[in-house]
Amino acid sequence: MPPLAIGCDHAGYELKEIVKKYLISLDLQVDDLGTDSEKSVDYPDFGSRVAEKVDCGEYKSAILICGTGIGMSMVANRFSGVRAALCNDLFSAIMSRRHNDANILVMGGRVIGSELAKEIVGAWIKTPFEGGRHSQRLKKFCGGK
Ligand code: RB5
Repeated sequence: MPPLAIGCDHAGYELKEIVKKYLISLDLQVDDLGTDSEKSVDYPDFGSRVAEKVDCGEYKSAILICGTGIGMSMVANRFSGVRAALCNDLFSAIMSRRHNDANILVMGGRVIGSELAKEIVGAWIKTPFEGGRHSQRLKKFCGGK
């Protein structure tokens, strides 16, 4: 699997560290784009840092974490080549890959626990896009990207 990028704000920092270790334990390469502590930062800075690298194709997929996941998903979805899915449950995470070909998984560090987050990440990275009728639907709002 190609390397993943990961990013967070201060409210997502603790969970980001846990998710990063989990990905490494699966022998995946994960590039941490910050933030690197619980010191208060602005989520748009880190959300856009990650999203722009997915948008330009430097990374095929990425993970973003803030307090709720809401701010990070709003920021990431401003980039035309990004399909960021806020998934704080397992079913949404699986469906975001199968039907929406999500390329950024967003979670809320203040919403879910670390065990659920690891389950979500594990399922998200291994679930393929189904294509077919879902490709046609994506083309209606993503164009060629
Ligand atoms: C930070 O306090 C919090 O607002 C942020 O992490 C996020 O939840 C925004 O949507």
